[in-house]
Amino acid sequence: MSYILDDENCPPGIAAIFARSPTALSLASETLADRPLVAINESFCKATGYTSDDVLGRNCRFLQPPGGAGPVRGRIRSFLDDDDVGEQRFVIPNVTKYGDSFLNIVYMAKIRHPRLGGYVLGSQFALRTGGERAAAYERALREDLTSLSDILSESDWMLLGSMQAIANTSALVARHKIEG
Ligand SMILES: Cc1cc2nc3c(=O)[nH]c(=O)nc-3n(C[C@H](O)[C@H](O)[C@H](O)COP(=O)(O)O)c2cc1C
Repeated sequence: MSYILDDENCPPGIAAIFARSPTALSLASETLADRPLVAINESFCKATGYTSDDVLGRNCRFLQPPGGAGPVRGRIRSFLDDDDVGEQRFVIPNVTKYGDSFLNIVYMAKIRHPRLGGYVLGSQFALRTGGERAAAYERALREDLTSLSDILSESDWMLLGSMQAIANTSALVARHKIEG
């Protein structure tokens, strides 16, 4: 299941890929003020506890704890503002709708069109999901991005980044477990 605010202006392929993906996916508009979410999927709702009514039209920072998410927030802002970087991955403290805290691995990749502007694709993976699921997650996300890139290549849309920032999710999960 996918939830999309404005189908017509959305890059091609988003609806289909969001609907079938087992991974939590989100899409934010860069042409609207404050980069609101314009598409999410069922896995995003499951991971965060929020419904499409709760989140569409809002910036995704609502997932961050009231006390603040720390310096990673500034790093995300720098990435989003830097036209030379296409993709990046961040680990950020988040809270579900029900108040459960979790560390979220958020992968982001920019999508660009020469005239229609841009979007940012996000994928969320909760560290508490466990290392054994990380490899499957990484594979599924890679498949989603490959499909999207193939679909976009038939239009003027382009997915930036080379999926390098997805690599080694299992190792990232293990490192965070050791560091506590
Ligand atoms: C597509 C997309 C998905 C995002 N997903 C998350 C997320 O799952 N959790 C989170 O804390 N921030 C997420 N963010 C980051 C925030 O929306 C925001 O960009 C970040 O807090 C830095 O900006 P700010 O300092 O203006 O809040 C996402 C951003 C984008 C563009």
